[in-house]
Order: sequence, then C-alpha cells, then structure tokens
Amino acid sequence: MRDVAVIGIGCTPFGEHWGASFRNLFIQAGALALEDAGLSGEQIDALYVGNMSAGRFIEQEHIGALIADYSGMATRHIPATRVEAACASGGLSFRQAVIAVASGMEDVVVAAGVEKMTDVGTGTSVDTLAGAADREWEGLVGATFPGLYAMIATDYMHRYPLTREQLAMVAVKNHFNGARNPIAQFRQEITVETVLRSPLVADPLRLFDCSPITDGAAAVVVAPLDRAREFTDRFVKVRASAQASDTISLHDRADISRLDATVAAGRWALSDAGLSHRDIDLVEVHDCFTIAEICAIEDLGFCRKGEAGRLTEEGVTALDGDLPVNTSGGLKACGHPVGATGIKQICEVVQQLRGEAGKRQVPGAEIGMTHNVGGTGATVAVHILEVV
Ligand code: COA
Repeated sequence: MRDVAVIGIGCTPFGEHWGASFRNLFIQAGALALEDAGLSGEQIDALYVGNMSAGRFIEQEHIGALIADYSGMATRHIPATRVEAACASGGLSFRQAVIAVASGMEDVVVAAGVEKMTDVGTGTSVDTLAGAADREWEGLVGATFPGLYAMIATDYMHRYPLTREQLAMVAVKNHFNGARNPIAQFRQEITVETVLRSPLVADPLRLFDCSPITDGAAAVVVAPLDRAREFTDRFVKVRASAQASDTISLHDRADISRLDATVAAGRWALSDAGLSHRDIDLVEVHDCFTIAEICAIEDLGFCRKGEAGRLTEEGVTALDGDLPVNTSGGLKACGHPVGATGIKQICEVVQQLRGEAGKRQVPGAEIGMTHNVGGTGATVAVHILEVV
C-alpha cells in the first residue's frame, strides 16, 4: 500500500444558503480545493461524494453523476461515486479516496461531502435524519436524533458524575472556537446561562446542546505521498484511516453511553499509526449533541469513562488546553450539513497542521485526529493526519 497525502482543501461557509443550490455548493468547495492544490479539473482521476439524503432534502438522486457533470468531468468519464453512511458519509468518502490512492488504483482523487438541508422545514429535516436510526424499531415509535441522544445523556448522567453545567460548557467552548472560524454557521460566543435558558428540545438537551440544520460542502484532494511535492509543498500525510460499525439501534447495545464503534475505530487508527494518545495534538470529534462530545473523548480513550465533563470544565479541551477538541467550533457552532461534516473535519485538521488556522491556531500542532459518526454510532470513521 502507498502512503497518501492531502494536497488541497476547500470548504464553503456553513449556514442557510437560500441563494446557492446543492450543486453550486459542491462546485464552490471543489474549486477551492483544486485551487488550494494548484490543480485543474483535468488532473483529477476519480471523485467520491459523501451525501446522506439528497433524495429527501432536494429530491435528487444519482449524486455521483450529477457532481461529475456539473464539475465538468463527465465528458472525461472519470469514476464518480456517492458514499452514504448518514452523518459519517463525509468521513467514509475520505476513506474511500484514501483506499483508492493507497491501493495504486487511482492517483489524484477528490473526496467531498455536501448536504443542502434547509430547503425543507425542521419537521422534514428531523424525520429525514431519523432515517439514520432504525426506522422500524426507533423511528416508527417516534424516536428522533435529539430524542436518542437525550436517552444517552440521561443514562450517562445517572451513572457518571456529569453536571448539567459541564454539558453546557461543551457548547460554550465550541461557540468560542466557532466565533474564530470564518466558515462557521454560529459565530457568537455564548455562556453557560445561554445554554441553560435555551428552549428544551429533548430533556435534558436544550437548543444550544444541539447541532443545527445546515447547508454546506467541503472537498479535499488526495494523492500519493511520494508525488505530493509535484503539486504543493503544503501537504499533510494521512497517517491512519479506520472505520467501524455497530448495531443500528441504540437498544441493541450493551451500554448505550459507550459508542463501541468509536472505541474500535479509535484503537485501530492509533495502532495502525503506531501512536499513543499523548501524540495527538488536537481532535475534531462528532459533537452532534453536547453529550456526544463527552462520550467521544472518553470512547476514543483520551480519558476514562466519567471524566470528560471535569476535563471540559478544567479547560483541558479548550483551544489553549492540553487536548484542544473541536477547534473548528465542532458540529455545534460550525454547523452540521451531514454529508459534508466528515470532510470539513479533515479540512480543519489540515489547516491546523499547516499553521493556517488564524485565531484558532493550536501552536505547534503536528498530529491531529478526526472522528465522524453515523447515526448513534452504527458507523464511525477515525483518521489521523500528520505534518511531514
Ligand atoms: N443551536 C443554536 N441556535 C440554534 C440552533 C442550534 N442548534 N438551531 C437553531 N437555532 C436558532 C436559529 O438560528 C434561530 O435563531 P433566530 O430566531 O435568532 O434566527 C432559532 O434558533 C430558531 O431556529 P429554527 O431553525 O426555527 O430552529 P428549530 O426549532 O426549527 O430547530 C432543532 C432546532 C434543535 C430542533 C434543530 O436544529 C435540530 O433538529 N438539530 C439537530 C439536528 C440533528 O439531529 N442532526 C443530526 C445529528 S446525528
């Protein structure tokens, strides 16, 4: 297998884009990534697009072909493939591109993610997202994603020492970081009071415990590491790529407060890379709800179960802490266009490793991790990236 590098990144602003279509969003992100890599479209050999549900959000299927066509690549007949794994579609799109290049099958590959969620109302969005859970056993009895993660939060808070205030501090931290990220959907700092006074969505989760509904796209270009310098000197090595799965229903898990697919993918990524937790300088985790960040930090093995709330309160996960978590603002503040999130996480870590993250730069960052979750943990992708 060949070593792989990320040679270009591009991301649209995340938010409500009434004036841009699904395909426009992709083209914007793709063009930024190609420009960043110093490439033209003719140099791309293959395309992977992470997308969860264009069929329900914009009534469009056949996304690989659509994107190849509107990117001007259809007449060159390059392979263009949609990758779907709910909110982990982006992470898996990146992994497919890495596998294609590592195997020697392709050389220069775009991995992207795109979702246009705001053209439908909140009800349809929430119902569409519920399709990432088990429709027969969870969706049909009314379980939504805020509802499922509220069950995780309730169970967790019953068993471990996590206060409501500590949960709110996850959102406060991520809004602080988002306020320093030009692409973030929410760029205002908030306080614990803001979270605690916001409307209840699914007890104990309030509005500011939730990621929002978002439009956006992100794209990266990957190439063989030994050819990266032909294109740019601002490349980053892909040190590990891991993917794991679990039961789709929460009620089929032995422990609903532990995401075993996160545990497995995190372990595999670190062992494939030959690294330990102490080597990781920053991590982008899948904080679709504040409780999800707490679980992710623990399930990835950065601390023991029950400790992440205290670490958040002590500032360990803050921008200037020992383990900065979600420097982009996370899904909470940056926004969560589901198919694009996993690629945006890669873009953020690459920016940090290139020292280009501006006001949210982690000084001297050399190794970063991303953690992208589909559903309540039925699919997890973990990647480790490193400065060469
Ligand atoms: N955090 C902070 N503010 C938010 C927000 C969020 N997550 N979602 C919406 N808002 C704000 C809006 O900006 C708006 O503010 P304004 O009145 O100042 O303009 C206000 O709250 C109302 O927005 P609206 O779009 O009407 O919210 P809503 O009530 O329709 O939706 C949620 C709120 C929480 C139900 C929705 O964002 C949601 O379902 N989030 C979870 C998404 C999800 O499950 N993703 C998959 C995870 S695996």
